Amino acid sequence: MKSKTLGQFIIEKQSDFPYAKGELSRLLRDIGIAAKIVNREVNKAGLVEILGETGETNIQGEKVKKLDVFANDQFIAALKAGGEVCAIASEENDEIIPVESEISKNAKYVVAMDPLDGSSNIDVNVSVGTIFSIYRRTSLSGPGTNEDFMQRGTEQVAAGYIIYGSSCMLVYTTGKGVNGFTLDPSIGEFCLSHPNMQTPKMGNVYSINEGNYLHFPEGVKKYIKYCQEEDLVTNRPFSSRYIGSGVADIHRNLIVGGIYIYPTTTKSPKGKLRLLYECNPLAFIIEQAGGKATTGSKRILELDIKELHQRTPLFVGSAEMVDMAMEFMAKNTAEKV
Ligand code: AHG
Ligand code: MN
Ligand code: MN
Repeated sequence: MKSKTLGQFIIEKQSDFPYAKGELSRLLRDIGIAAKIVNREVNKAGLVEILGETGETNIQGEKVKKLDVFANDQFIAALKAGGEVCAIASEENDEIIPVESEISKNAKYVVAMDPLDGSSNIDVNVSVGTIFSIYRRTSLSGPGTNEDFMQRGTEQVAAGYIIYGSSCMLVYTTGKGVNGFTLDPSIGEFCLSHPNMQTPKMGNVYSINEGNYLHFPEGVKKYIKYCQEEDLVTNRPFSSRYIGSGVADIHRNLIVGGIYIYPTTTKSPKGKLRLLYECNPLAFIIEQAGGKATTGSKRILELDIKELHQRTPLFVGSAEMVDMAMEFMAKNTAEKV
């Protein structure tokens, strides 16, 4: 075999982990297993009855598709069976899921996740993803509590995403760089395909739902116009690319360079994306790859978290592009977030 498998890589790198090395390795392995199962279902989403809406809504009042529920169930089952987590928080569950079992009584970690990101793309054969974030528990024993999740993003032990795209990739960081693994379907293993991923300091892609333009803060409106201006030196106009699956948009921008913005809007005055299981893990990865992630004025990873499903605006991507967008925001100080 030419390339290292995810399992081999995790074991090789576990000496880097500051704490509970074997446990974290097993936890990452469990996430890899759930990812393969979800990938199998995503791949046949067009074939089976699993596709479609359940008719239920999640806490954000959005439509929940069946594959969201399936992905949620798979990740919860894999995490419970692995015995390394004492609680799970998910976009699909209003409350945390405390884990109480014989095998998890010494569990040291909690996991927060968005089991299926980009769910509006499920039934149109466009990439979707999973986002996960791992923290050490702060409670001492027993099943985990809400408090275990009320930690700043800087406290993350590891974070990653899986993108169910033209190929399936798992990208993760433990705070020592970012590594990407592509699923080789012929052997059913994630293989190291993108070692030490670095995002360009500058790109020429901007990703934002421009349909909301009229509702954006003035700084964002002006930044979009800046992206569209002609300028040879900075290679403008930039290209606009927006899939509507944050994982896929941010993954592409990580590789080619670019900025993804989900700002506040008049309809969503706190932004749309969730801090705990969308923005913090994505911010950790992008910073580890040399990029930046902010609210438009503050570093995402240093935000205080008070609620499980707390929302925040997000400006993430190539460092120089995020800096420039923040300058536009700062010039409109009344709208600072
Ligand atoms: P989810 O499918 O988990 O609700 O998240 C979707 C997120 C993000 O991935 C995407 O970029 C954004 O919401 C799309 O929102 P709009 O349709 O409002 O642009
Ligand atoms: Mn999401
Ligand atoms: Mn989701």
